[in-house]
Amino acid sequence: MNDRDVRVYEVGPRDGLQNEATPIPTQAKLRFIGLLADAGLREIEATSFVSPRAIPQLADADDLMASLERREGVRHPVLVPNRRGLERAEAAGVDAIAVFTAASEPFTRANINMSIAESIDAFRPVIQHARDHGWWTRGYVSTAFGCPYQGEVDEAAVVGVAGELLELGIDELSVGDTIGVAGPSDVRRVVGALTASGIGVERLAMHFHDTRGTALANVATALELGVRCFDASTGGTGGCPYAPGAAGNLATEDLVYLLDREGLSHGIDLDALLVAAAHVAETLGRPLGTKVGQAGGWRVP
Ligand code: HMG
Ligand code: MG
Repeated sequence: MNDRDVRVYEVGPRDGLQNEATPIPTQAKLRFIGLLADAGLREIEATSFVSPRAIPQLADADDLMASLERREGVRHPVLVPNRRGLERAEAAGVDAIAVFTAASEPFTRANINMSIAESIDAFRPVIQHARDHGWWTRGYVSTAFGCPYQGEVDEAAVVGVAGELLELGIDELSVGDTIGVAGPSDVRRVVGALTASGIGVERLAMHFHDTRGTALANVATALELGVRCFDASTGGTGGCPYAPGAAGNLATEDLVYLLDREGLSHGIDLDALLVAAAHVAETLGRPLGTKVGQAGGWRVP
């Protein structure tokens, strides 16, 4: 990758759909994932092997992965919280997983019913197994910019959890603004603390929720700091049921438009992406709330 290349990591089928009240048929999810791949996305987080009681919207993970068309060069990571999730993921033939914890204790407890330390212990054998099998691995640090229960989160806490996840041997760390409260100064503060601790910026992905409209400003700041991987959700859906007030993820179409204007390469065709976004809107039965989903790309008349 050169410095003008950006990876867009699509979380729509997972983060986007996990919080939707409308039950979504597995076939509609599969079609969504197919349209995303048609648009050029090469990393599409497909679903989660979590407790179906915790996230009923993704209870079809086993069926979905069994029916998913694997395409050359496309990675379909899935969320795995524990050994049970690992067994299900392995049975489904996955080769890319993401474990997830947070920088604040109350959110971690609400989300996965573990302390942060317990979550690291739970992930150790999971990541070891994945590495032994040559799988790609990612770790999420949620609430890196603010917690719905605790409030402000110290960057030292983010650095601490990040270091423990990286010690497990994960390939990439995704730093989450779970409830969409960060602004550019926060991005400088947190990314600055992570890199000052010795974590290479090439190991980082940023996961912005756009709850308060700051996600693109945060992306622009992270780009200046050298970050080259961003999580986003086509159609702008998303949120975690255990993070009250978390609205949509940064929309992939808004991110792609910005990257295009900045002359950065990402391999995604905006028009084709808008077809995938329209499919989400149709499936959910409501119009798109995203800027570029409504306005389209810019064509000079
Ligand atoms: P628990 O209740 O403490 O777990 O939940 P347990 O081990 O006591 O098991 C309870 C029951 O769940 C048992 O079933 C287990 O078999 C079952 P029972 O015997 O009662 O019938 N179970 C499972 N079933 C299927 N797959 C599994 C599994 N594990 C246990 N893997 C647990 C702990 C972690 C399982 C639960 O809290 C959970 O699944 N949480 C997931 C929450 C989640 O997915 N949240 C959203 C993702 S995080 C996010 O969105 C943030 C992110 O986007 C980044 C950001 O924005 O910052 C990533
Ligand atoms: Mg999220």
